[in-house]
Amino acid sequence: MNLKLIFLGPPGAGKGTLADMFEERKGWKHLSTGDLLREEIKKKSELGLKAKEYMDKGLLVPDELVVELLKNHLDASKGFILDGFPRNLRQAQILEEERIEVDLAINFKVSAETIISRLSGRRICSRCGRIYHLINIPPKKEGICDECGGPLYQREDDKEEVIRKRLEVYEKEIAEVLKFYKERNKLKEISAEGQAEEIYKRIEKVIVDYGQERENTG
Ligand code: AP5
Repeated sequence: MNLKLIFLGPPGAGKGTLADMFEERKGWKHLSTGDLLREEIKKKSELGLKAKEYMDKGLLVPDELVVELLKNHLDASKGFILDGFPRNLRQAQILEEERIEVDLAINFKVSAETIISRLSGRRICSRCGRIYHLINIPPKKEGICDECGGPLYQREDDKEEVIRKRLEVYEKEIAEVLKFYKERNKLKEISAEGQAEEIYKRIEKVIVDYGQERENTG
């Protein structure tokens, strides 16, 4: 099955980690608007410099900038996982207006305690983008990526005051996005607590059930 999925959930819920696992095992392209924006910042492009002002404060980057960036990277003829998009009702409407069909929107549910612990220990490879956690998913050699040997870094917006703002923005915007997909019968919720492998199996089950439903309805 060549699925088109959206991973929804608060900062630190594990969306990127799980999307990477699905990309590796199923070949569905993982597209994170956060990663795309961070690449633009690294390149010091005009878009990246504008986006940085918002990201450093934990605010959403204006829709037109994010949509332009996503359009440049999304191949809607293949399977994909959107991670971090849509972030508000307008972005969900834009996807629909652009006739980018989505099979399922999977909402990751986690406690505030888990979010804080995951975000405070997160480290990312500055070369290949692989995600680690100092305690839960540590690299074999401290500070070095297992995959490519690149140095690991802590994200600028993983500071306590910025995390608080990101969570506030998330809470404000997400209800309308969830409602949008619920009304279209595409919303599924999973617990994102526990080991990444367990969460993978929960998502896989949602996908298998969806495939069967599709077969039954012809
Ligand atoms: P973005 O990069 O999308 O950040 P986010 O949504 O806040 O999500 P995170 O990347 O923080 O968390 P995640 O759920 O992917 O968790 P991860 O897998 O890393 O956005 C950043 C900023 O960009 C936004 O604030 C905004 O400014 C801008 N932006 C992005 N998209 C936008 C849009 N569409 N519109 C407007 N602005 C936009 O996991 C977290 C940690 O936990 C890691 O250390 C990981 O190793 C660990 N971990 C993961 N799973 C487990 C597990 N099961 N058990 C133990 N540890 C785990």
